[in-house]
Formats: sequence, C-alpha cells, structure tokens
Amino acid sequence: MALNPLTTRDHDVIDLPFLDAVSSFAKKLSHGDDYLVVSHHDADGVTACAIMVDLLRSLGKKVDYKVLKQLDSITISEIKDFTGKILVFTDMGSGHFTLLADHGVTDFFVVDHHNPECESPKQINPHSFGFNGGIDVSGSGMAYLVARALGRIDFAHLAIVGACGDMQDSGGKLRSINRMIMFDAIEQGTLKVKNDLRLFGRQSRSLVQMLAYASDPVLPHLTGNKRGCTQFLELNEIPVRDENNRLRNYVDLNHLERERLTTALYIHLLDANTPEFVIQRMIGEVYTLMREEKKTELRDAKEFATLLNACGRQEQPEIGVMVCLGDRGEYLALARSLLENHRRQLSAGLDYLSKKGVESKENLYFFDAEGEVKESIVGVVAGMAYGARIIPPDKPVLGFAQDRDDPDWLKVSARANYSLLRKGIHLGNAMNEGSSKFGGEGGGHDIAAGARVPKNKKEDFIKEVNNIFTTQVSN
Ligand code: C5P
Ligand code: C5P
Ligand code: ZN
Repeated sequence: MALNPLTTRDHDVIDLPFLDAVSSFAKKLSHGDDYLVVSHHDADGVTACAIMVDLLRSLGKKVDYKVLKQLDSITISEIKDFTGKILVFTDMGSGHFTLLADHGVTDFFVVDHHNPECESPKQINPHSFGFNGGIDVSGSGMAYLVARALGRIDFAHLAIVGACGDMQDSGGKLRSINRMIMFDAIEQGTLKVKNDLRLFGRQSRSLVQMLAYASDPVLPHLTGNKRGCTQFLELNEIPVRDENNRLRNYVDLNHLERERLTTALYIHLLDANTPEFVIQRMIGEVYTLMREEKKTELRDAKEFATLLNACGRQEQPEIGVMVCLGDRGEYLALARSLLENHRRQLSAGLDYLSKKGVESKENLYFFDAEGEVKESIVGVVAGMAYGARIIPPDKPVLGFAQDRDDPDWLKVSARANYSLLRKGIHLGNAMNEGSSKFGGEGGGHDIAAGARVPKNKKEDFIKEVNNIFTTQVSN
C-alpha cells in the first residue's frame, strides 16, 4: 500500500470576513492589563489555554488561568474570586451567555467553537461565519487565530494537537480552518504531515503494543492478543526488535516495512469482513511535532493530545498547560504518570462496560457507570466503546456517572458518529434541551456533548432525549 508524502498547501479557503472579524476581536481583547484565562479540561481546552496565556504574556499582560471540567452554575463559583480581571473563556463560553449574565459576570471575552447561544461582540465563534466548529476548527485553533492576528504565531502546532484531541482529524485529514493552521505550522517548521498508518502510539509504543491496544479500528485477533501480534509481525518479516535487541516502534520502520505492515493489516481486516470505510480510517494524515524528541508521546499530535487529556481529566490540567508552555522536566514527568493512571482507568471503564453491556431505547443506548467510572472520563469511555464496537454504531449513546460535586446529580456524556449526524442527530442540542427541562444544564457539539441532570429525573431524562432524537431524525 503506497503511503504518499504531503507537500503542498493544497487548500486555502478561509474567507477574509472571518479573518477580519478575528483581527478586530483580537485588538479589542488586547486592550486590558490583567486577565484570567478560563478553559475546558480536555486536550483542546488545555492547548487553547496555553496558547492564550502565551499570547497575553507575550503582550506584557498579567495573566492567571483556571481550567474547569465545564462551565455551569456550580463551577462558575470557582472564578468569582478573580474580581477586577478580564475573563477570557477559551474552548467554552459560547453556550453560557445567559449563565454568565445570571451570575453578574460582565467583563469577559469568549474564544470558542461550540454552538453559540447568541451573537455578541464579546465573542469570536466560527459558526457565526458559516463554519462548523465540530470539524472545521477547534477551541485551540480559535485561540491560535486570535494570537496570529496579534502577531504571535509560535503555537500553531499546539492548535493541531487540540484539533486532534477533539477528533477533528477523524475523517483522515484536517480540513478548512484547521488545514490553514496546519500549513502555518508546517511553514514554521514545527509540524510535518504525511499520509501513513494512523494507529495510536506510532511514536511511543512498541509495535506489539501499538497493534495489541488498537481500538480505532479494532484489529480482529490482534487487539488484546500480544502473542498474536508478535506472530503477525514475524509472518510479515517485520522484526519486533532492532540489532541491539531493543523493541522497535512504528516510527523505527523503514518505508518498505511500513508499506508491508499497512498492506498486511488492510488484507487482515478485509479477511475479517471489516467494512471498507472502517479500514480506510486506518490510513490518513499523521501529524509529527518536529521540535519534540523522537519516540516520545509529544512527537505525535494524537499522542500529545492523549497526554493532555490525561492531565485534564485526572483533574490536574495545570500540569498539561505547563507542558504546552514548554516544560520538559518535572511537569512532563508528572503528566506521564497521570497518563498511566488515565490508561488504567479507561481500560477498567471499558472492561466494566463490556461486562455490563448497554441498555437500549428506540433511539438511543445508555449505560449506568455511577460509582464505577468517573464523570470526567465517562465520555471518553463511551467514545472508545464505539470505536471498539462494544456499543453498536446505529444509535447515539448516553453514559451516566456520579456528578463530582453533588450526590443528587448525575453527569451524562453523549457520543454519536458521522452517519448518525447525517440522519439529523445533534447531541449538543439534545443535551441542552433535555437537561433544561429537568432543571439541569448541558450542551456541546453535534457529535459529542454532555449535561448535568438531577438523579431522580434520570428515567424521565432518557425518555425525553429519546423523543428529541425521534424528532431530530424525522425532520
Ligand atoms: O469542549 P470540547 O469541544 O473540547 O470537547 C469535545 C470533546 O468531545 C473532546 O473531549 C473530544 O475528545 C470529544 N469528541 C469525541 N468524539 C468525537 C469528537 C469529539 O469523543 N467524534
Ligand atoms: O465531558 P464530555 O467529554 O462528555 O463533554 C463533551 C462535550 O460536551 C464537551 O464539548 C463539553 O464542553 C460539553 N459539555 C457541556 N456541558 C456539560 C458537559 C459537557 O457543554 N454539562
Ligand atoms: Zn474543543
């Protein structure tokens, strides 16, 4: 299978009105002296936070930052103490104008890619210009565009990490605004892009680990079977160790070996009746961060994003922000240990889900992970379970976990896929509408969203969301 290099700026579609709007927004934002950047705790939020903090510092401003699991009526109290500062929300805020007004927060800017609740001069959002924030640009991409408008272009590659964290590369390539940012990073020498095998761990995992832990797509007879992976590699004449007896990673393979392995996997999946479109997802663009050490998690954008997700979702997002801002010592070591924890928790979550299974309504699946899976990772577990076909792809899934802050409330994470979106599913709207009916709050993207709901309204909420999905697919 031929793996082609990617060389030219093949795409330049970004409207000037959008970039002009970013520019005038950026100028307005830069007029203050003392800022608090408030961001979301996943990889996109953490990179967005770092890009904004770096920008404001480079402009000589005083900057603090705070990373939240989400913005809601409980977490908003965490930013109340920072009076006198200009708040800059990144990767959050567009769905929270009413919440902010209700809590008397007035001095703020929003740099976001979630569906906007309203139009406002305090906000820059791609949806207002006909782009889709779910796929065309991430929160960190929006933060980068603001920084770029003010002459700070150093962190384009971090915006690519953020986009990969939000899975905006899942079609096999970045598009639209993300693509423009990608070429900025290539031109700055911080990023290299090529078409290659997209399995997770190509930099930092051994070949056997990379194959044995593959979840998107699952490799029949190989995922979960280290011995089978070793035999598969030997059969295809790909040595698992180098001449010094060290384990080889995918990036150690030469071009011919990479093509041989990719072809062998392709045939293996075809033999196992894996649908062609799933196999296709295995090959596509891979994003290499050229200034990072080879064979580390930071060298590959998807692996970097997972490291940051681990920090955020293990409730220590500041560690991720420090790594993004350049720490390669103490904080990177801490981030790596959080990643170990994160992996253990995700795999325990997936095991739990495989044993327990999902329940089904006409238009959705749901599972109850209260006490078993933390609210911060229930969405990741739901998404991975889709990838691993533990949950069938024909309906959206809702995962329920105990709310961290209140025993009487539940956190719900919802996940869908592109074929469901084509039928009309919009999870962000469903979470927002469904939760508000029971005094909760929620939102998000079409494909990934979440909410808080009172525990005693769980059944009613499921029924309500099931009805909302019925309406969505029949419109
Ligand atoms: O708030 P933010 O936009 O960063 O969150 C989007 C979240 O949805 C990310 O954590 C991302 O991993 C998740 N997602 C997903 N499946 C997709 C797209 C996004 O789980 N296909
Ligand atoms: O937490 P989770 O990864 O499931 O979040 C998925 C998406 O839903 C994120 O974009 C997040 O910002 C959004 N969300 C929300 N309100 C909540 C929970 C999640 O808008 N209460
Ligand atoms: Zn985001």
